[in-house]
Amino acid sequence: MNAKSTIEEDVATTANLLGKTPKDFRVPSAPKDGLPAKVIALFNQKGGVGKTTSTINLGAALTELGRKVLLVDFDPQGGLSLGLGVNAHSLPLEQTVYYALMDPSADVDQIILKSSVPGLDFLPANRDLGTAETTLGAEIGGQQFLKRTLNTLKDRYDVILIDCQPTMGQLTINALVAADEVIVPLQCEYFALHGFIELKGNLDKVKNFLNPQLKLIGILATMYERKTVHNREVLTTILEKYPEDVFETIIAKTIRFPETTVVGEPITTYASSSGGANSYRRLARELIARGGAR
Ligand SMILES: Nc1ncnc2c1ncn2[C@@H]1O[C@H](COP(=O)(O)OP(=O)(O)OP(=O)(O)O)[C@@H](O)[C@H]1O
Ligand SMILES: [Mg+2]
Repeated sequence: MNAKSTIEEDVATTANLLGKTPKDFRVPSAPKDGLPAKVIALFNQKGGVGKTTSTINLGAALTELGRKVLLVDFDPQGGLSLGLGVNAHSLPLEQTVYYALMDPSADVDQIILKSSVPGLDFLPANRDLGTAETTLGAEIGGQQFLKRTLNTLKDRYDVILIDCQPTMGQLTINALVAADEVIVPLQCEYFALHGFIELKGNLDKVKNFLNPQLKLIGILATMYERKTVHNREVLTTILEKYPEDVFETIIAKTIRFPETTVVGEPITTYASSSGGANSYRRLARELIARGGAR
């Protein structure tokens, strides 16, 4: 056990907001061999709340803890691929997640890309994936296709993170059927609570009809501005309503994140000692402490 305290002073937490002492999530031991990967979908039907940013940076932070991580770009916008330096719109269909999804005999090793971070791989997506919306709806078992693909990869990774698109269509249903857990990135604005209630209703439907094991592992407050009254008020309300469901780690708003998209790498390498990088490192430790990843 690492005796050194891992509390970072530059990371915002809900504990600080509530006047409590933040927990000290220690560096976990190495992942256990021989267990299948945990699959976690990052989902919020609201656009621009930090899903892609969180998928990339949580994934990168998990690799620093010795985890082998696969990211799945599951948005036809291809934002995750771009954030890792690949413009997937110039890739042929056969080299995107769409092909792996639709053809069970596809060689995934021809599709998986390595990022600049050791241990961080990804399945790229481009606009071709958008055509899957109708096909998946019409195929028998179409809701299980991503699960089928990921089942062939689970013994090679410790964690698989799926970056969902901001709609509740067939692709997102596929992600939620394939997932063990969901992380909900949420920007603390006035309508966020209303949106979250709708989202929770959708998760319950998926749970009841398609994936009884699905678990909300945590709501992640993103783009948080400590000095903005309504950010504080909304987060306080969410904490009152869902005290067990909110990650203690908060991701503050900083220009460093938009910058990472331009350079095409995670913040953990682009601005390694920044508060933003330390926030995702703390989130990675918190996720493991919650049992959300091994
Ligand atoms: N903590 C942050 N501080 C400042 N800007 C951020 C932060 N997190 C994300 N951003 C920026 O906000 C924008 C939206 O973020 P991101 O693409 O991660 O959201 P998203 O939920 O994946 O969006 P979409 O729904 O379109 O897929 C991006 O320009 C990103 O760089
Ligand atoms: Mg996105």
